[in-house]
Amino acid sequence: MIESKLLEQTLCGLFSDIEFTLQPTGLYDPLRYMISIGGKRIRPRLCLLTYSLYKDEFDSGVLNVATALEVFHSFTLIHDDIMDKAPIRRGLPTVYCKWNDNTAILSGDVMCIDAYRRMALAPSCCVAPVLALFSKTAAEVCEGQQYDMEFEDREFVSMDEYVNMIGLKTGVLIACAAKEGALVAGAPETDQQALYRYGYDLGLAFQIADDYLDTFGDAAVFGKAIGGDILCGKKTWLLTRAFEKATPEIHAELVRDLALPVDTPEQKETRINAVRDIYVSLGVDTDALSEIRRFSDMAIADLAPLGYRDGDSRLEALKAYADSLVGRRK
Ligand code: IPE
Ligand code: IPE
Ligand code: MG
Ligand code: MG
Ligand code: MG
Repeated sequence: MIESKLLEQTLCGLFSDIEFTLQPTGLYDPLRYMISIGGKRIRPRLCLLTYSLYKDEFDSGVLNVATALEVFHSFTLIHDDIMDKAPIRRGLPTVYCKWNDNTAILSGDVMCIDAYRRMALAPSCCVAPVLALFSKTAAEVCEGQQYDMEFEDREFVSMDEYVNMIGLKTGVLIACAAKEGALVAGAPETDQQALYRYGYDLGLAFQIADDYLDTFGDAAVFGKAIGGDILCGKKTWLLTRAFEKATPEIHAELVRDLALPVDTPEQKETRINAVRDIYVSLGVDTDALSEIRRFSDMAIADLAPLGYRDGDSRLEALKAYADSLVGRRK
């Protein structure tokens, strides 16, 4: 097993050396911008972590796969910010705000292509299954994003529909990251499947935490504008749960508040505060924290087929990773 210190150093090196020095700069500058401002890098970290359970050193094949996962993820964020009308990402202006929609679309496209190019540099023995899983995942992320958009225009979305949607838009890529590391390392099929489930459930916890932080987080730490989901009428975990819990009167009030105008900064604040107050009065904020814990515990339980026991450093590394996402503030 590779030590976590080496894993962190390797991860840092991956993105400090990444090259996008092509012309025209109008196409490639946004890529450099997104990658250089960095994020939490959870997908490449998870890929390297699961690989490290089976191997004693990293080789260029797995490093290409890990880098591809982050490039692909960053591409989805560039397009997602257009779709969600989000002004701030990773503490800085989003690509479509800093440049324009067309630049964000095309730079995002070339980034997606770059992710495939890097994925195809997986070790030759496993390039076919690596690409097959990645392509399936990429299509599922688009399906999730489409549901996410369609749900904005729907009056009611059930909790099952919500969980299915976040499984697609967020769960599958984290699951793919966890499985790809094991696949490249030549892990047994049962381990690969268990790690996929682990990543998927972790992804559900991760997205519910994202929904929670979008309303209750600290913008300076979270790196995104607070209240964006309320402003675009997103069917988040908080709203879905609020509709489940609300009396008919509170339900009507919530619908009214979500239709309040948001043309000026003051109006935006009024809508965000009104909806947030209802969430707090219904207790959906604390419900969300329990749900994040529940999915993270499920992720840990998914590891059972790996046969690790308490105290085994490999199990502890994966458990600690799940735990670290529970109390996250960014
Ligand atoms: C944001 O992902 C999109 C979601 C799936 C919630 P991250 O929270 O991993 O974003 P970065 O990469 O750290 O900025
Ligand atoms: C993001 O969901 C999922 C994808 C980008 C595929 P969100 O829209 O909640 O992510 P943030 O909050 O903008 O990072
Ligand atoms: Mg979105
Ligand atoms: Mg978004
Ligand atoms: Mg979000």
